[in-house]
Amino acid sequence: MKNLGNKISIVEKILQTLPGERRYLVHFLHLVQQATGYIPEEILPAAARHFSVSPSEIFGVVTFYSAFSLKPHCQHEIVVCQGTACHVRGSGAIMEEFSRWLGVKPGEENLEKNVLLKPVNCLGCCAIGPVVVVDGQLQAKVDLKEVKRIAEKLTGESEKRE
Ligand code: FES
Repeated sequence: MKNLGNKISIVEKILQTLPGERRYLVHFLHLVQQATGYIPEEILPAAARHFSVSPSEIFGVVTFYSAFSLKPHCQHEIVVCQGTACHVRGSGAIMEEFSRWLGVKPGEENLEKNVLLKPVNCLGCCAIGPVVVVDGQLQAKVDLKEVKRIAEKLTGESEKRE
């Protein structure tokens, strides 16, 4: 996986700052989740040695708490309302345009571009549709030009597309 080496070295540095006692395990996992965005499975053996627990025990902790994830998640999230009011104002075309610009299908994530494209049914603000939420920021009356601007800003892409 891309950048895994960097992530492992980040995790090793975190390990060096913590005593090798089991009570620090959850704190360690929070630090790793914060620093890398997830808990890479590859780090479990080293962490198990450090905290004198089994890798399966760490696995159990990671899967028990919803704050931890074993899979990387995208840094950016674009939510496109597909509810009726937004749909009649063109949110279908907006979703298609995001999909083309970001190279990802609705409901999927593009890990290379670090973005998740998510459809929702209604965000409860139908009067200002079509509504899009970009990294938690609500955007009202979004049009196709806005889609290009948002996509380029998030992905840092500026190449022209046909
Ligand atoms: S239908 Fe889009 S906000 Fe309600």
